This record gives sequence, C-alpha cells and structure tokens, in this order.
Amino acid sequence: MGDQPAVKALVAYESMFGNTERVARAVAAGLRLEGCDTTVLDVSRAGAADLADVDLLVVGAPTHGFSLSRPATRRDAVRQGGRDVVIDIGMREWLDTLVTASRLPLVATFDTRVTKVRYLPASASRRAARILDDHGHQIVAAPTGFLVHAVPGPLEPHELDRAIAWGRGVATESWSRLTPAH
Ligand SMILES: Cc1cc2nc3c(=O)[nH]c(=O)nc-3n(C[C@H](O)[C@H](O)[C@H](O)COP(=O)(O)O)c2cc1C
Repeated sequence: MGDQPAVKALVAYESMFGNTERVARAVAAGLRLEGCDTTVLDVSRAGAADLADVDLLVVGAPTHGFSLSRPATRRDAVRQGGRDVVIDIGMREWLDTLVTASRLPLVATFDTRVTKVRYLPASASRRAARILDDHGHQIVAAPTGFLVHAVPGPLEPHELDRAIAWGRGVATESWSRLTPAH
C-alpha cells in the first residue's frame, strides 16, 4: 500500500432475498480493511456499467439453475417470497452492458448457493468469471461460493467472516498486481 493511490474497488451484486447483498457488504468490509476505496452497487438499480476509474470489480450473484439468474428464475424467486426487484436486470444482463475499455479492471467473482448442493459442477460465480474472462479481464481469485441454508437463506454460520477474509485476500492480491515491481 504505502504511498500508492488507493485501489478503487466496485462490489456489484444481485440479490433476490438479501443474502448475496449481505455477503457483498462483508466482502466490501474486507476490501476496506486492506485500504481499498470501495463502493457497493445493486445492479438491479444501476443502469449500464460504468467502470471508469475502477481498478477492481468484484461481482456477486445468487446461483440459479447452476448459473447466473435469468428473468424466469428471478420471477420464480419473487414467487417464493424474494424481493420484488426489477426482473429485467440481473447480473447476467448488467455484465452484458460492460464495454471493453482500454484499461480493464481486475475482477473477482463470488456467488451464494444452498448447502445441500455445495459441490455443484457449475455456479453463478464461475459463469460470471467466464464472461469477464471473455471480455479480457484478469481474474485475481478463484470463483467462490458462500452457503445459504435454503433458497431464502439464511446464510450458514461464519459465512460473513469468510466473506470478509475473502475480500481481504482479493484486496492484497489486487494491490500486488497493481503495484509495479521495483
Ligand atoms: C429459481 C431458483 C433457482 C435456484 N437454483 C439453484 C442452484 O442451481 N444451485 C444452488 O445451489 N442454489 C440454487 N438456488 C438457491 C439460491 O442460490 C439462493 O436462493 C440464493 O443463494 C439466495 O441469495 P439471495 O438472497 O441473494 O437471492 C436457486 C434459487 C432460485 C430462486
């Protein structure tokens, strides 16, 4: 860190029941503990992605159907008591609005998923990482899942602590990649 300008981080999330939002805020707390200048953004209210000045983009979304949600799965979540969000815009659609800029932020992705399919073959965070990799972004951490007890939550014990720790790790890795070697 030292005299380096602070790493500017954006934590963008989608959340139908509030669990991914809680994880996103814990990840943001971890990033701030490592000195990142961090903003948290709900993509359902965000409009097109604006990554000007962002050094690190962290993306978090619930796993729906082993992947990122779609309008139909978000509608299903609302039917199950989820927030009445703007159905048309989830993380998949927000990522579609990313334009390829000359200076691409580093990225890291996480998701939430239910405990009983912990070892699922595919997930929202892996899908998001794939999309961002295809856009040419450098990925700084393995896609990670945080566990909820059932579809509406709650988060399993200690997942918020794990999210803070994960955020700290993402921050330190980003600092080292953004700081020119001596
Ligand atoms: C339509 C729908 C499909 C889902 N599919 C999966 C799935 O494939 N794998 C999984 O682990 N969880 C699945 N879930 C559970 C979600 O991952 C869970 O609701 C989410 O992590 C809660 O986060 P949120 O409160 O931020 O929406 C599904 C939930 C819904 C509503």
